[in-house]
Amino acid sequence: MANSSQIKDSEKSLTITIKTFFGLEQVLTEELNELGYKDVQLLNRAVQIKGTWNDVYFLNLHLRCAIAVLIQVRQFQIKTEDDLYKQCLKIKWHEYFKVDKSFSVRGAIFSDFFKNSQYPILVVKDAIVDTFRNAVGDRPDVNTKSPQIVIDLYVNNNQVTLSLNTSGLPLFQRGYRQAVGEAPLNEVVAAGLIRLSGWDRKSTFLDPFCGSGTLLIEAALLAAGIPSNIERQHYAFKNLANYDDALWNKLYDETQKRITKLPCRIIGYDINDEMVIKARRNLRALPIGRFVETASEPFERIKKPEDSGMIITNPPYGERMGENIEELYEGFGNWMKSEMSGWRCWVISSSESGFKSIGLKPSKKIRLYNGDLECSFRLFELYEGSKKNPSL
Ligand SMILES: C[S@@+](CC[C@H](N)C(=O)[O-])C[C@H]1O[C@@H](n2cnc3c(N)ncnc32)[C@H](O)[C@@H]1O
Repeated sequence: MANSSQIKDSEKSLTITIKTFFGLEQVLTEELNELGYKDVQLLNRAVQIKGTWNDVYFLNLHLRCAIAVLIQVRQFQIKTEDDLYKQCLKIKWHEYFKVDKSFSVRGAIFSDFFKNSQYPILVVKDAIVDTFRNAVGDRPDVNTKSPQIVIDLYVNNNQVTLSLNTSGLPLFQRGYRQAVGEAPLNEVVAAGLIRLSGWDRKSTFLDPFCGSGTLLIEAALLAAGIPSNIERQHYAFKNLANYDDALWNKLYDETQKRITKLPCRIIGYDINDEMVIKARRNLRALPIGRFVETASEPFERIKKPEDSGMIITNPPYGERMGENIEELYEGFGNWMKSEMSGWRCWVISSSESGFKSIGLKPSKKIRLYNGDLECSFRLFELYEGSKKNPSL
């Protein structure tokens, strides 16, 4: 890495904070454990580990349940508003990035020190600009829309944490989406659901409401051992002064990119032809695309492809006018009972009346968010023989 006094890559010297969505902290920890990171601290919508720049690059590429990988620049306490500026001015920002890079400060402020939550963000921005002016006689531009460098400010009462967001654009922007469906599931949420379900990556995976195919894609990439971000080009760490292109290329080259077959069947259906075309277009952009089976069919016509398997699905929530959500979920419940015995079926929805209409008792319920929408992710276990199916 570059010869910077602050950015040297000594053994596990970096505090790495990995952000995720509410409810996915535990599966993100499991994912880290699987990748060999055993010492993981659980936070609210985030986890923390110690690591190196090698880890930062690796995690940006390999994590499926993360939104952003941050490295801590400094943590300090403030007694007055002014302290924030003074402490920020002590940081050698010009060693982290060059003056020709645009930057933006983003923050989450939970503190009585600041009445206006935008104000501390402006203070940090000013301190960064002033550090550059003092050190190199010039200032970097601010770009709030598409900055090359993203600084993360977190204020909790009088405790301030400044970090570099090494991902930049959120990691759910995978780079594989060619076509967007009507209500696409967030890619990180999809990866999180698959982990939460406990799917073994070997048994048949079915999404009867596949839309543009997010769950199919995330399941196939997971089963194939190909990173979900394999098509992503953008990472903010590439804009840092210490960016090591050779290290990045080495990590990327070592990654699984191609497969000759999937270890399981992955099948998606949607009633809407256009959605199936979109799912296929998204799948084609990926090396797993040709192994995933898709067809345009209403769920009522789907026949059980194997004696057992896993359904993970995201049916309509009923936000659209004219949709009779109770009828749809009732039909779906009946189809599960009559057609899918021997299967485990996980459903994510924000519709409580929809869940009630399914007419089956869930054996697990997990609270989650899909964007701003509070949802529940529920497991219906469809035992062999309808008598054993616990109905509501
Ligand atoms: C919330 S969207 C799924 C979005 C998907 N997870 C994605 O990421 O794009 C629900 C999908 O269910 C489909 N759908 C509605 N009624 C259906 C039915 N009876 N059978 C199969 N699919 C249906 C819709 O066409 C829509 O694409």
